[in-house]
Amino acid sequence: MSFFSQLIGTGSAFPEKVMTNADFESFVETSDEWIRTRTGIHTRHIADIRKGESTSSLAIAAAKKALEMAKLSGKDLDLIVVGTVTPDSVMPTTGNLLQAALGAERAFSFDLQAACSGFLYGLSIADQFIRTGAVQTALVIGAETLSTLINWQDRGTCVLFGDGAGAAILTRTSDPEHSILGTRLYSDGTKGDILKIPHGGAKVPHYLPEYRHKDHSIHMQGSEVFKLAVRNMIDASMAVLADHHLTPEDVDFFLFHQANVRILEMCMKTLKVPREKTWINLDRYGNTSAATLPVCLDEAWRQGAIKTGDRVLMATFGGGVTWASGLIRL
Ligand code: ACO
Repeated sequence: MSFFSQLIGTGSAFPEKVMTNADFESFVETSDEWIRTRTGIHTRHIADIRKGESTSSLAIAAAKKALEMAKLSGKDLDLIVVGTVTPDSVMPTTGNLLQAALGAERAFSFDLQAACSGFLYGLSIADQFIRTGAVQTALVIGAETLSTLINWQDRGTCVLFGDGAGAAILTRTSDPEHSILGTRLYSDGTKGDILKIPHGGAKVPHYLPEYRHKDHSIHMQGSEVFKLAVRNMIDASMAVLADHHLTPEDVDFFLFHQANVRILEMCMKTLKVPREKTWINLDRYGNTSAATLPVCLDEAWRQGAIKTGDRVLMATFGGGVTWASGLIRL
């Protein structure tokens, strides 16, 4: 008997506070007009850490909505995977915080770091566990509070990111047609310098006085990332389609990582994707890294843009660098 993974629920959550482009004008040399025309971003949500908003609180809220849609409870979960580069703590993991909060007594849980590719990496890992028969039902999360890693004096990065979380529930099926058809995961550590957070890990620990003022924020060579993001998301999309002898014309809906509207437009142009076959929400949320794709999936599904039977192609690119694609049939 062969097993496959069926998507049966999604959810998303955002912090309350909304920051507009105009809000940045008071502390960096920028303008609403520059941000809108060069990135497509109008607003983003920023977590209020002092009020208890965090990666785990957003992830828990998103997970509860996904469980509700799937008509399941935490007790039904066997696996929880959280893609994040902003865990609440190193130990316990955000996955374990979720496991406790959701009462998922049976589940094993962990975090993975693949920057903006975290959700598709997690989806692929959960799919492998389900296909082997080891897991019946999995919760996959992409959740970030990247605002905690921003250098608010760097206009080249601080305007780009937002906080949020998205969740997806997968369950075992014997129906290969309505399932995760395939995923492709990629990394290139030789290009790690173009998008990185240089310090904060164990090599430059914050608790040693000589390291206290080192740089724990996001560094990005924007135009290099831009070019690589376009090329790699297109290549990864074509690769997962080729695995299934499909072309972009066979896809009903496309979800691309939301970093810059110009990146989206270039991907859409090359793959010949009409505007009505894709979802764009970076105007409202900015780049929410690993949360981006599950949030797009959740919004597109709940609002009827995608429906049962549709083939949905997802592609992403993230720091480190990592990139990935995934093809599902609802
Ligand atoms: N306001 C005003 N001017 C700005 C701003 C700003 N917020 N940011 C940069 N500029 C300036 C630069 O300083 C530069 O000025 P100069 O010519 O005087 O030196 C000028 O604008 C042009 O800078 P570029 O970097 O060439 O601008 P570009 O058009 O490439 O846009 C951007 C920059 C938005 C960062 C773009 O390169 C981009 O979106 N890159 C990709 C980001 C991405 O895909 N990230 C994905 C992964 S994220 C993750 O994994 C966490």
